[in-house]
Amino acid sequence: MLLDYSEESAINKYKLMSDTVVPRPIAWIVTQENGVINAAPFSYFIPLSSSPATVIVSIGHKEDGSQKDSLSNILKNKKATICFVNKNNVKQAALSATSLGNNESEIEKYEIEVNEVLEDYPPMISSSQSALFCDYYSTVELPGKTVPIILEIKKQYIQDDRIDERYHINVDNIGRVGAKFKAMVDL
Ligand SMILES: Cc1cc2nc3c(=O)[nH]c(=O)nc-3n(C[C@H](O)[C@H](O)[C@H](O)COP(=O)(O)O)c2cc1C
Repeated sequence: MLLDYSEESAINKYKLMSDTVVPRPIAWIVTQENGVINAAPFSYFIPLSSSPATVIVSIGHKEDGSQKDSLSNILKNKKATICFVNKNNVKQAALSATSLGNNESEIEKYEIEVNEVLEDYPPMISSSQSALFCDYYSTVELPGKTVPIILEIKKQYIQDDRIDERYHINVDNIGRVGAKFKAMVDL
């Protein structure tokens, strides 16, 4: 079967892409605004380059047409802490995808433990094995309702026992396949 994207609906293109471009890493993004800590998962997310150390994440809008809180907080405050999902916190990551008002914190509502590692970045989710402390870099111009933003990694947290002296990293991240979470397996 050959599918012509110019003839497919937006929802079918979403289904095709999110079931085919798999597994996708998940950026569990923590941002802050007016003292409210916001957390939400995003899987239209990928590294762009190691020099400069950059990632790209595409964030859409809420049903009422306003920017998702993560997007508006990043564009306003220029900071984001990207945490990674593992089997111990995947349920909390899924819960934190619920759309709340911008003055409501997923962290408080779903009792997600965070700790402040760097005072000038949002806190990281304590159960994550690694976190990337990022600055807003730029926005990619794309028509439509999803806004791809480039973030530059400034600092990284990694649990001590997950990095060796040769900088080999071992994390048990959970990824996204269509609408499901999937763990990695060794081959
Ligand atoms: C695993 C997973 C991946 C998601 N990926 C994206 C994504 O890439 N872009 C997006 O706009 N929403 C994505 N969502 C939906 C957002 O997490 C959801 O809209 C959330 O409420 C946004 O929160 P915020 O308003 O606090 O930013 C994803 C949800 C889940 C569960």
